[in-house]
Amino acid sequence: MPRGEEVRGLTLEATELWKERALIATEELRVYFKVKGANRPLKAVDGVSVSVEKGKTLGIVGESGSGKTTLAKAIVKLVKPTAGRIYFEGKDIYKLSKSEEKQFRRRVQMVFQDPFDAIDPIYSVYDAVSEGAKILGLTRSKSELDEIVFRALEQVRLTPAQDYAQRRVTSLSGGQRQRVAIARVLAMNPDALILDEPVSMLDASVRGEIMKIMGDLKIQGKTFVMITHDIATLKFFADEVVVMYLGRVMEVANSKEITRNPLHPYTQALVAAVPVPDPRYKVKSLAKGEIPSALNPPAGCPFHPRCPLAQEICRTQVPELRRVAPGRLAACHFV
Ligand SMILES: Nc1ncnc2c1ncn2[C@@H]1O[C@H](COP(=O)(O)OP(=O)(O)OP(=O)(O)O)[C@@H](O)[C@H]1O
Ligand code: SF4
Ligand SMILES: [Mg+2]
Repeated sequence: MPRGEEVRGLTLEATELWKERALIATEELRVYFKVKGANRPLKAVDGVSVSVEKGKTLGIVGESGSGKTTLAKAIVKLVKPTAGRIYFEGKDIYKLSKSEEKQFRRRVQMVFQDPFDAIDPIYSVYDAVSEGAKILGLTRSKSELDEIVFRALEQVRLTPAQDYAQRRVTSLSGGQRQRVAIARVLAMNPDALILDEPVSMLDASVRGEIMKIMGDLKIQGKTFVMITHDIATLKFFADEVVVMYLGRVMEVANSKEITRNPLHPYTQALVAAVPVPDPRYKVKSLAKGEIPSALNPPAGCPFHPRCPLAQEICRTQVPELRRVAPGRLAACHFV
């Protein structure tokens, strides 16, 4: 079986073609951290192959500690992979020329979890939004920079942009801050936005507003990688969803299929854990107990201590991620 097929198993049949067609792709990516006092590395990302085509949205979902942020940071070169490859437009991002590297730094942007956690109280919205464009030297004059900043603020519907630009970031509400965080990366006119939990801290109405803004950007052709621990957020926004658990991929599927008919027991637990509007019907997660430490992951299937369907084989043998239906991958002995 050709390697591309083996890794992705989705629509692309020919060897290696998926890497070239994708805007961003990772191949068997591993990010291990050294932890003080531990005699083994912490495997935050452990052999992850994912890809997203131009203009599409890839959702990454998983509970806390599953390696979502580390994967995103590796893609934007904030953490160095221990092994594996990352491709941008088919090129290994560690083998780019100087000018390609500069372009890459502009074209792929990440919006962080808690983006203004430690912000200087004197920082204005203008300072925040113009910062990246200034660092990358994207403008030659103040008026050009103003234009970029105001346009970015308009794109996130913070209008009148001139008024918002003068406000202190600290004076804004949570939803407004999140919009500034998005405007900040839009000022660099990226092709791809990697959003780490963009709406999880916000209440439902504000969440809807942010999703609308992202929907507009999607229509304009932007590519998204959207990270969340709430699978329901991805149902309408993502095209494909990757479910991660303890640094590994558990399931990959179309976003509607995965919520309608989750195949992997872990995905089933995530879908069941989605709170329903009527509290009388609150469904509890099917997963038992807490997530084990990534420093000391279970042998065999990493999900086995919590899986209601676990059998003897699950304790000893790691299930391979394999094609289980057209366009679907799962890592479970019984799917
Ligand atoms: N710099 C680091 N040094 C050591 N361990 C780290 C480092 N960064 C992350 N980790 C560990 O790697 C694992 C994955 O962390 P990561 O932040 O990627 O998970 P996550 O899926 O984003 O979780 P959350 O939903 O809580 O944001 C965790 O066990 C975390 O403690
Ligand atoms: S391999 Fe076993 S433990 Fe893992 S998800 Fe499947 S049934 Fe559960
Ligand atoms: Mg995270």
